[in-house]
Amino acid sequence: MKTKIAQGAEAIIWLDGNKIVKERIKKLYRHPEIDKRIRQKTTRQEAKLLEKAVSEVPVPKILKSCDKAMVIEMEFIEGNKLRDLVESMTKEERKDVFKRVGKKVAKLHNLDIIHGDLTTSNMIVREKVYFIDFGLGFVSSKVEDKAVDLHLLKQALASKHHRQFEECFSSVMEGYKQEIKDFSAVEKRLKKVEERGRYKEKGKE
Ligand SMILES: Nc1ncnc2c1ncn2[C@@H]1O[C@H](COP(=O)(O)OP(=O)(O)O)[C@@H](O)[C@H]1O
Ligand SMILES: [Mg+2]
Repeated sequence: MKTKIAQGAEAIIWLDGNKIVKERIKKLYRHPEIDKRIRQKTTRQEAKLLEKAVSEVPVPKILKSCDKAMVIEMEFIEGNKLRDLVESMTKEERKDVFKRVGKKVAKLHNLDIIHGDLTTSNMIVREKVYFIDFGLGFVSSKVEDKAVDLHLLKQALASKHHRQFEECFSSVMEGYKQEIKDFSAVEKRLKKVEERGRYKEKGKE
């Protein structure tokens, strides 16, 4: 039996036995033909990224994907979202899990995969930490794109896990540093991205 387990702005998620069916939904404000093209492209892109990532990083295995029908069938990762575990973890557990997150983000970046939506809602903890939802992802070797990916994760941690933010993000960076090919380039660019952010904030005042 198929049960709907989530519906976001982009997709409906069905659970069917032990598989997940991710179906891209129509956006009525777009021209139908353009909308179809965009949804087909995102489906293809997400499937491609999951396939590229799977050898290096825990992600759901693709069972079937069809860009025409705009559907991806993938392995169901049964576990809790990292988002819901952070609060009840000990400091040591948090350090360990976020260091592992950082290592995995670096592995994605070493493959030139930019996730595009790194939040603790898109990480499922089973025996490992699985990354899901590559719907905003893309391939890029640019240091800028990698720095922005980290910056978005940093912002997500600051807003969702404010009280544990410092220790979580410093552990992410510790793990990231251990795995990423060129740490100093990304670190430098991250500082620039943040300066740009602060400048923009000031401009709004
Ligand atoms: N492979 C999966 N295994 C387990 N749960 C999943 C899986 N894919 C999606 N989900 C669940 O569905 C929710 C929405 O899926 P997601 O791919 O993040 O789409 P959206 O773009 O709508 O955020 C996730 O937060 C998660 O709870
Ligand atoms: Mg999501």
